Amino acid sequence: MSSNERVEQPIKFAYWVPNVSGGLVISKIPQRTSWDLDYNIKLAQIAERAGFEYALSQIRFTAGYGADNQHEPVSFSQALLAATERLKLIAALLPGPWNPAVAAKQIATISHLSNARVAVNIVSGWFRGEFAAIGEPWLDHDERYRRSEEFIRALRGIWTEESFTFRGDFYRFNNYSLKPKPLAPLPEIFQGGSSRAARDMASRVSDWYFTNGNSVDGIKKQVDDIQAKAAANRHSVKIGVNAFSIARKTEKEAQEVLAEILKHADPEAVKGFHHEVQNAGNASPEREGNWAKSTFEDLVQYNDGFKTNLIGTPQQIAERILALKQVGVNLILLGFLHFQEEVEHFGKHVIPLVRELEAAKKPVRAYA
Ligand SMILES: Cc1cc2nc3c(=O)[nH]c(=O)nc-3n(C[C@H](O)[C@H](O)[C@H](O)COP(=O)(O)O)c2cc1C
Repeated sequence: MSSNERVEQPIKFAYWVPNVSGGLVISKIPQRTSWDLDYNIKLAQIAERAGFEYALSQIRFTAGYGADNQHEPVSFSQALLAATERLKLIAALLPGPWNPAVAAKQIATISHLSNARVAVNIVSGWFRGEFAAIGEPWLDHDERYRRSEEFIRALRGIWTEESFTFRGDFYRFNNYSLKPKPLAPLPEIFQGGSSRAARDMASRVSDWYFTNGNSVDGIKKQVDDIQAKAAANRHSVKIGVNAFSIARKTEKEAQEVLAEILKHADPEAVKGFHHEVQNAGNASPEREGNWAKSTFEDLVQYNDGFKTNLIGTPQQIAERILALKQVGVNLILLGFLHFQEEVEHFGKHVIPLVRELEAAKKPVRAYA
């Protein structure tokens, strides 16, 4: 895909499935969000009507940091697919606990059950305590990515080849024939992570690169790096960025909500989370991946979503989304405080402004 085509396509929207309790912030602020099935079914139905194309369900094996209960993402995604018509569900898979033979089989079946609306997000692990709790060996940062890359190559091979043979350091397959294959189009393969190893993997094998929230400049640096390498590898990859959105009538009102979230932050939980995420980007050889530079305030949102600054009036938010699009972003992944009502509001008040700005094809000003 050329850089022009990347910018011409309408930007896509996804939301984080709140399949964990406590919502998407480590704060005791009251939230009208629930992790249960009924709430999530209604949310998914609202989201597909509101113009969201994807929903991402996350994986964590152990509770903590405000997320005390969490549903498993593949089975939870299947339940949401059964209750929707157009929404695509991206289910997180964590190599280590998941093995590619099981994952490929499971996702192929869900592709048939959902008319090809399932996708996967390959995550590489940041939570050492979680691996210890379930008796999984913990690999060094870049080794985790080597395993993830083999996992992705194995998934794709199983899904596309009649007789799949693979000799990796982590996985082996011998003339394996999966039947049925997933329906076309094949499940898209997303990945989460921002370190050099993550970017290199994206430039070789992933369909989508998902990164934490960041400034437009911070995102641009990642996009330029990935797309230059992807071009050299003749690989096509799209970019998704996390953001926590607070859209209100005035910027002041939106900033007040952010201030309330931060005021009610749970300091012990944020510090514990900070301690654990040091196993991610900061543990990479170049020490610059996710969370390597996050402040206390940034970490109140699990994936640095405040940094993207989609906080303000619908017009301000739409302009900021366009600025991200202009540096090569294809999808915005959104978290909200009160999911059902804010997803609906976003669809009604922000997405139409984004579409107007896209149609106008004028450059929007960069923002701080
Ligand atoms: C959008 C997004 C979603 C993620 N979802 C999960 C998840 O569900 N479970 C998980 O253990 N890690 C998840 N991660 C974490 C990544 O897989 C990775 O371990 C982390 O971002 C650190 O990567 P880095 O060291 O390459 O920067 C997610 C990351 C991003 C950006």
